[in-house]
Amino acid sequence: MCGIVGYTGHENAKDIIIDGLKRLEYRGYDSAGIAIQEKGKLIVRKKKGEIKELEKLIDGEEITGTTGIGHTRWATHGEPSDLNAHPHVSADGRVAVVHNGIVENYMELKRQLIEDYGILFESETDTEVIAKMLGVLLEETDGSLSDAVYELTRKMRGTYAFAAIAADNPGEIVAFRKDAPLIAGVGEGFNFIASDIPAVLRYVNDIVLIENEEMVVATPDSLRIYDENHNLVKREPMKVTWSLEDEEKGGYEHFMLKEIHEQPKVLKETLYRRLDENGRIYLDGIKLDSEDLKNIDKIYIVACGTAYHAGLVGKYVIEKMSRIPVEVDIASEFRYRDPIVDEHTLFIAVSQSGETLDTLAALREAKSKGARILSVVNVVGSSVARESDDVFYTWAGPEIAVASTKAYTTQLVAMYLIALYLGDLTGSITEEYYQRILNELKSMPDKIQQILDRSDEIENLAEYLYNRDQVFFIGRGLDSAVAYEGSLKLKEISYINSFAIAAGELKHGTIALMEPETVVIALATVDRLFEKMYSNIEEVKARKAHVVSIAKEGRTEIERQSTNVIYIPDCADEVTPILSVVVLQLFAYFVAKIKGENIDKPRNLAKSVTVE
Ligand code: G6P
Repeated sequence: MCGIVGYTGHENAKDIIIDGLKRLEYRGYDSAGIAIQEKGKLIVRKKKGEIKELEKLIDGEEITGTTGIGHTRWATHGEPSDLNAHPHVSADGRVAVVHNGIVENYMELKRQLIEDYGILFESETDTEVIAKMLGVLLEETDGSLSDAVYELTRKMRGTYAFAAIAADNPGEIVAFRKDAPLIAGVGEGFNFIASDIPAVLRYVNDIVLIENEEMVVATPDSLRIYDENHNLVKREPMKVTWSLEDEEKGGYEHFMLKEIHEQPKVLKETLYRRLDENGRIYLDGIKLDSEDLKNIDKIYIVACGTAYHAGLVGKYVIEKMSRIPVEVDIASEFRYRDPIVDEHTLFIAVSQSGETLDTLAALREAKSKGARILSVVNVVGSSVARESDDVFYTWAGPEIAVASTKAYTTQLVAMYLIALYLGDLTGSITEEYYQRILNELKSMPDKIQQILDRSDEIENLAEYLYNRDQVFFIGRGLDSAVAYEGSLKLKEISYINSFAIAAGELKHGTIALMEPETVVIALATVDRLFEKMYSNIEEVKARKAHVVSIAKEGRTEIERQSTNVIYIPDCADEVTPILSVVVLQLFAYFVAKIKGENIDKPRNLAKSVTVE
C-alpha cells in the first residue's frame, strides 16, 4: 500500500525520508519518489521499482535540502511507471504532492483544470490533480499553502491523505487526512508527517495521531493541527514504546492474522467503490456491455491455488445469476488440454499477484483463440492485468503471508459483483434479487467482524484438534467450494494432511477412511441443501467421526449429529462462503500457531509462482 513520509528540520531530508520509506517497504509498493526543497526550488526524483532504483537514480547528486516529502506507491490509477510515481508537481513545478487513497471526483477536477486553465497532465493518476490544483489555488491564497490545501479539500471527494511542499514556503509541510491514516512525529528542532508510525520510529517516539478531516502544518519548530473548520486544535503527543517489527504487523503476531483481521475493511473497499450514487454496480475497469454479452455463449474461469477456489464459487454464482454456462479450470490443466475456446468465450483469469505463470499462459492461450479476457487481479499493472481486455482490481492491498486470506475474500466479492453485473445485463435476475444480494454483500464486513470477535471459540477448537494427522472437509454446493479452500489453508501452514470432497461423493470411496475420532469439518451453511448435508454428516457420525459442523445461527438441530458446532451469522445462501471461510482461515491459523509452524512463510511454498 502507498506510504508517505515527510521531514522538516536541519538534517539532510533526502537521507531521512528514504530511510523512512524503507521502513514501509514491507507493505508492498511498485515505485518510489521524493521531493526536496533545495535553494528556492523543488528537486523531484521518482522511479518505478524498488527504493534502491530511486537511490541509484540520485546516486552522486548533491541534494542537501532539509525539508521534503517521499512516497512509496501501490498503483490504483494508472500502471506502475516513472511518470505515475509520486511526487506529482504543479504546472510551474513549484508545488509537490504525495498522496495515498483515491480522489473520487478527479475526472471532474481534471476537466476544470484543462478547460479553465489550459493545464497539461503527464500522468494517469488522480494525485496529479491535487498538485495541479494546489498550484492554481496558491495564486489565490497569496502563497499560503495551508489555505490552498484547505480550499482544495472543500472541492475534493474521496478517501485520502496527502502531503504537500512548495518551493516558496521553505521548511513547511502541509498534510491533510480524510479516511486514510496520517500521523505526525515530534522531535526537537525537527518534525515528521507520515502515513504510518514505523516510518518515523527510528527518529521519534512522540507521535500525534491526526484525526479525520484535520490538516497538519509542520515546520522544524512547530506542528499545528487544524480541524475541519480551520480552527487550531491542541493535542499532546503519545509515547510509542513498541518496536518497529510489532508495528509493521499492526500488533498482530503474524501477517496472516493481521490480514484475516483486515477483511472487513478491504471488503468494504472492494465493494463500496463499485457502487454508484444510485446504489448500482459500476465496474470501472470493465467495458463489457450487453451488446458484447450477446456474443458470449460460454465462460471459463481459470486460476491456481486459492484463486482457483474463488473461481469455484464464481462458477456457482455467475451461472446462477447470468444463466451463461461456466467452466472452472486449474490454469496448468487448461493450457494443455486444447480447450474449446473461440470469440464467443469470456475468459476470466483470477490471480492475486497477476504474475502466476500458468494463469498467464492460460490467458494467452485463450486470447490466441479469440476469447475476451477479463481478469480479477490484486496487483495493479501486473502481467495478467496488462494483457486483459477488462480488469477488476480487488483492492485488497498487499498480502504478505503466503497463505492467501484477504485476497481470496475480495476475489469472492469480485465474483458476486461480476455475477450480478452479468445477470443484470442478460436480464436473468430481477431488480429485487439484485438489490437483495447487494444488501447481503454490504452486510458482510460487519458479519465477518462478528466471527473475528469470537476467534477464541475457534482457537479452543484448534487446541483440541491440533495434533491430528488428517482432517477431512466436506460440503455441498457452495460449501464444497469453501471446503477446498479450508483444506488448502490447513495443509499449507500446519502441514496436516487434509482432504476436501463434495459431501455427496463421500460414500463412493472416501468414507472407507472414516474411523472413530477421524476429524471431519462439515460445512452446512446452505439452507437449500441442509437436509442433504445433514444426512452426509450422519453417515460419518455413524462411523464415530469427530464432526465439527459450521452452520448458520439458528440451525441448532445440527448439534445432535456434531461434536462441535461453529455458527456463522445468518445470511442468504449465496453469500455464505464469505463468512464460513473466515472460520476455516482462523482454524488453520490457530492450529499452525499451536504447532509452532512458520505461519507467514510455510515450507516449500512461494507467494507468487512464476515458474511452471
Ligand atoms: C501460490 C500461492 C497461493 C496462490 C497461488 C496463486 O501457490 O502460494 O497462495 O493462491 O499461488 O497465486 P495468484 O497470485 O495467481 O493468485
